[in-house]
Amino acid sequence: MEIYTAQTVVLPVYEPTIEPFQRAAAVIRAGGLVAFPTETVYGLGANALDAQAVARIFSAKQRPLSDPVIVHIAEIGQLAQVAINIPPAAYALAERFWAGALTLVLERAPHLPDNLATGLKTVAVRMPAHPVAQQLILQAGVPIAAPSANTFTRPSATRAEHVLEDLNGHVDIILDGGDTPIGIESTVIDMTQHPPVILRPGGIVLDALREIITEIQLMPRYIEENPENTPQSPGMLLKHYSPRAELLLFDGDRSNVLHAMRAAALDYRAENKRVGILTTNEEADHFTDTGARIISMGSRSDLDKIAQMLFGAMRALDKQNVDKILVAGTSKEGLGAAIWDRLLRAAEGKVRQA
Ligand code: TXA
Ligand code: MG
Repeated sequence: MEIYTAQTVVLPVYEPTIEPFQRAAAVIRAGGLVAFPTETVYGLGANALDAQAVARIFSAKQRPLSDPVIVHIAEIGQLAQVAINIPPAAYALAERFWAGALTLVLERAPHLPDNLATGLKTVAVRMPAHPVAQQLILQAGVPIAAPSANTFTRPSATRAEHVLEDLNGHVDIILDGGDTPIGIESTVIDMTQHPPVILRPGGIVLDALREIITEIQLMPRYIEENPENTPQSPGMLLKHYSPRAELLLFDGDRSNVLHAMRAAALDYRAENKRVGILTTNEEADHFTDTGARIISMGSRSDLDKIAQMLFGAMRALDKQNVDKILVAGTSKEGLGAAIWDRLLRAAEGKVRQA
C-alpha cells in the first residue's frame, strides 16, 4: 500500500478562532486529512463521501483495508445522509447519548464509498461532543470519516503530540485542542442485530445503555472469565492498542497480583531488562525499590482518570524504552469494562492469573 505523504501543520485551537477551522475544512473538502480532538480520542478525518480521501486514511495509518471506519456527523439531520432504515431504538439511543461517546452500526446508505465500510452493508456513525470536532464537521459541510489518529496497532492518540509521533508527514493538519477528556474510544453498538450487541465497550457504559434498551447484549468475549482459553472469532483479539514494549497484564487476588508483579519486575531487572509499571496512587509504593519506571494513573477507584491517562501512559513508557510493561487489571464494572478490554488487547489476549 502506498503511504500518503503530506507536510503536517499543527494548528492550536484552544481559543475560539475561526481561521484554523476554515483552513482545516478546506483541506477536508479538497480530499486531504485533518486530525482533530474528540471527547474520546483524536480522530484522523477525511471527507466520508470521497473514496480517494478515505483511501488516504488507510494508507496514512497503515490500516488493513478490512477494518471499517466510523463516520462522524454534527447534527442528527446528517444521519439520514449516511444510513438507511434506521430503527427507532437507534433514535432512542441517539437522543439520549448524542452528542457523545456512542457509535451506532446501521444499514449503510448506498452512495457511501465502498472502502469506508470495507464492503459491508453497514456503516458505523457517531456524533462527537467535542466542540472542535463539531465545528470542523459543520465548517466542512460533509460527514467526516475518522478512525483513531494512531498508526495501526498503536495506542490511540489522546493529545496532538501523540498524533505527531505516529503520523507526522502523513496528515495535512492537526488541530491541537489539548488532552481528550475521556481518553478511551466510543462504545460501538451493532443496531442491525436483535437485540443490539455491543461490539466494543467504550465511553458510554453498559448500565447507562440498558436504561434505554434493556435487552442490549455484550459480545460474549467480554463476559468470558478466561478469554485465553476460549476460541475467538478471527480478528477479534488481534494485537491492538499496543505499546512497543511487551505488556503483561496481571489479574486475580489483589495481594497475589501485587506480589507477582513485584517478583516479575525484580526478575526482569536481574536480566538487565528495563521495566515499566503502570499503577495507581494506592499501589505505587509496592514497586518503588524495584528499579522500574513507575507511572501512576491516579486513584484506583477513579476509573475516569485511569481511562483518561491509559494510552498516554503506555506511550510515555515506550518513550523511556522499557522492554516490559507490567500492569494490574482494573475493576471490570462500568468504565472498567472498556479499560479492561484495552489492556487485554494490548496484552494480546494473555492474562497472568496471580
Ligand atoms: O471514539 C471513537 O470511536 C474514535 C473517535 C475518533 O471517534 N474512533 C475510533 O475509530 O476509535 P477506530 O476506527 O479506531 O475504531 C472503530 C471501530 C473498529 O473496531 C471498527 O472495526 C468498528 O468500529 N466498526 C466501524 N465500522 C463498523 C461496521 N460497519 N460494523 C462493525 N464494526 C465497525
Ligand atoms: Mg482505533
